[in-house]
Amino acid sequence: MGRLMVLGLAVTVAVAACAVASVAVGRRVRSRRKWRRVLGVLAELEERCATPVGKLKQVVDAMAVEMHAGLASEGGSKLKMLLTFVDRLPNGSEKGTYYALDVGGTNFRVLRVQLGGQRSSILEPHVEQQAIPPHLMTSTSENLFDLIASAIKEFVDRGEDGSKTLVSGRGKLGFTFPFPVKQRSVSSGILIKWTKGFHIEDMVSQVNDTVGTLALGHYHDEDTVAAVIFGTGTNACYWERTDAIIKCQGLLTTSGGMVINMEWGNFWSSHLPRTSYDTDLDSHSSSPNDQGFEKMISGMYLGEVVRRVLLRMSQESDIFGTVPSRLSLPFIFRTPMISAMHEDDSPGLIEVARILKDVLEIPDVPLKVRKLIVKLCNVVTRRAARLAAAGIGGILKKIGRDGSGSITGGRTRTDVKMRRTVVAVEGSLYTSYTMFREYLHEALWEILGEDIAPHVILKVIEDGPGIGAALLAATYSKDSVCG
Ligand code: BGC
Repeated sequence: MGRLMVLGLAVTVAVAACAVASVAVGRRVRSRRKWRRVLGVLAELEERCATPVGKLKQVVDAMAVEMHAGLASEGGSKLKMLLTFVDRLPNGSEKGTYYALDVGGTNFRVLRVQLGGQRSSILEPHVEQQAIPPHLMTSTSENLFDLIASAIKEFVDRGEDGSKTLVSGRGKLGFTFPFPVKQRSVSSGILIKWTKGFHIEDMVSQVNDTVGTLALGHYHDEDTVAAVIFGTGTNACYWERTDAIIKCQGLLTTSGGMVINMEWGNFWSSHLPRTSYDTDLDSHSSSPNDQGFEKMISGMYLGEVVRRVLLRMSQESDIFGTVPSRLSLPFIFRTPMISAMHEDDSPGLIEVARILKDVLEIPDVPLKVRKLIVKLCNVVTRRAARLAAAGIGGILKKIGRDGSGSITGGRTRTDVKMRRTVVAVEGSLYTSYTMFREYLHEALWEILGEDIAPHVILKVIEDGPGIGAALLAATYSKDSVCG
């Protein structure tokens, strides 16, 4: 009897053990299946984001064609191709003291720049920065500009050594603004989004931030023909020959050309590798159907694309256990976090773990999930950088600096000899995110080929929008000696 009981117990234990084992096996199988689904999400993303050089060349061509269409008529393209009326660029001969106002999204800066002529170096310009009080960001532009105007007055009055000068100071001011402005002249314009005119006394030039960057680039190096910004937003401007503009717009200028603010963030082409994450991001944004190129490239959006993919992955599987509620918060991943995770070279991906803990409040994310997130950042950033390179390729093609001639009024000129060509670049996405920069260079090289690529130099221009605006104030000031 006793033996029978022991046997019965043993059988029960064995059955229970089998049941536990089969539950464990079942769980493992389910978990493997879920992991495969996550890998499937990544593989699908990779495929949709692919940018082989053939596709990049299609984007290059589309950009050049759209540039032409945008110049030909207002509204002729999603590229605004705004005339800036900047028909000369600083050349190093400028002299005197000039001021600049650089208004950004959350702060504004006033700068004082001393120019000594003969391309003298611009040593540590005097700069003062102020945050824009949040209530003024949603207030009327009059209130905002009242605040800015009094800050400028105080800055100018304080003089060089910080002491209050007896005589109220006067100076020429350049103004740079990181938004699309339809200009009426070099010193006045209408902000396209706010449709509000503005005018500041003694303001001799008012330009987009890309134009300031081109001005500073050109001051240092006369081969600079274009400027590109890769920051929170993205945009480009370039020097266009007068005949190309005249043909298109019947415009007469006395000099050889004019800077065109492309507002390339709004570029669109069916060749762009768009995913469902991009479409959703766009439809939930405050500007649906606008800034499509910017939403695939710029610092404002890279983290948001990554978040959307991660959310889908965590819904498909249990990579984070239950779906973290914070993963549903738009824009919770900022681009510096994406670059820090992407470039984490510690064996245990410690930085990735730290950011996930800080942002999503999940401690101890398994290593294989951290590795997956690094791959995800790589796919999103690589696509952005390669498309950015295609954008630059498009400008070079339009102005005949890609080795294939230029598109002029629909005809292609092939007699243009390749010259040293400098593109000024600004913005922390390019300067601080090494992988973005490297992918961009690699793609530009692929697009241009080894015969042309060595002639094209991307030059980082620090503080282009600010100092460049002061240089343009000098260029357009009657007091400045221009050669
Ligand atoms: C704006 C451009 C600006 C760019 C870079 C974009 O969002 O539309 O005007 O040049 O950001 O700051």
